[in-house]
Amino acid sequence: MLSEEEKYILEHSSPQEEGLDWIIKQTNIRTHYQQMLAGPVQGRLLKMLAAATGARRALEIGTFTGYSSACIALGMPPDGHIDSLEKNDELEDLILEGWKRTGVGHKTRLIIGDALQTLKGLEGPYDLVFIDGAKSEYCDYLAMVVDKVRSDGLIIADDTLWAGRLWEKPMPGDPQTTGIAAFNDMAASDPRLECVLLPLRHGLSIIRKR
Ligand SMILES: C[S@@+](CC[C@H](N)C(=O)[O-])C[C@H]1O[C@@H](n2cnc3c(N)ncnc32)[C@H](O)[C@@H]1O
Repeated sequence: MLSEEEKYILEHSSPQEEGLDWIIKQTNIRTHYQQMLAGPVQGRLLKMLAAATGARRALEIGTFTGYSSACIALGMPPDGHIDSLEKNDELEDLILEGWKRTGVGHKTRLIIGDALQTLKGLEGPYDLVFIDGAKSEYCDYLAMVVDKVRSDGLIIADDTLWAGRLWEKPMPGDPQTTGIAAFNDMAASDPRLECVLLPLRHGLSIIRKR
């Protein structure tokens, strides 16, 4: 159930493509984890950032059902390409079908496996990286991708406000909360990076590599 504010925001943001509606619907029916999706507003923003930065090579960690990767691919030019990493091979059919229906099948490559292993074999430079895998692994992802991102390229990380748990006193000690807290500290203190943490949904960090 959407709040009045959420309805207003959606009504005043550009509508999303039909293929994306299909992915959301199928995610709900086939996984029951719709809340894992970036959602229409973040999805519009990802598409816009990909388009505005002229991204031609993108990388995503955490495909799930392919929604956010489709949004990024939609923002890229016809010869743009996104590598998307997912460890759950049961999602493969749904991901590929959704990408096809969104018209981005030719721009997307799904790599099934543990991202921490896959990343070792991927070469940059990437123009845009979207981090949305296991929260406990965010610092590892950042350490592994930072040298693969071009200068002035973007690293975007989802859930970086982690539903307000970061400033609870004492802060919860679960691996997800401590993982996000360490990631935020790491990104903000790295002189190679410029960060802005936006209060969009559960927090979205936009990080520019200098
Ligand atoms: C929040 S969901 C991603 C949602 C997706 N980016 C979207 O907005 O449409 C996180 C995904 O990361 C995957 N994941 C978690 N740890 C991973 C790892 N080490 N390697 C690859 N995938 C991983 C999970 O299986 C899950 O599908």
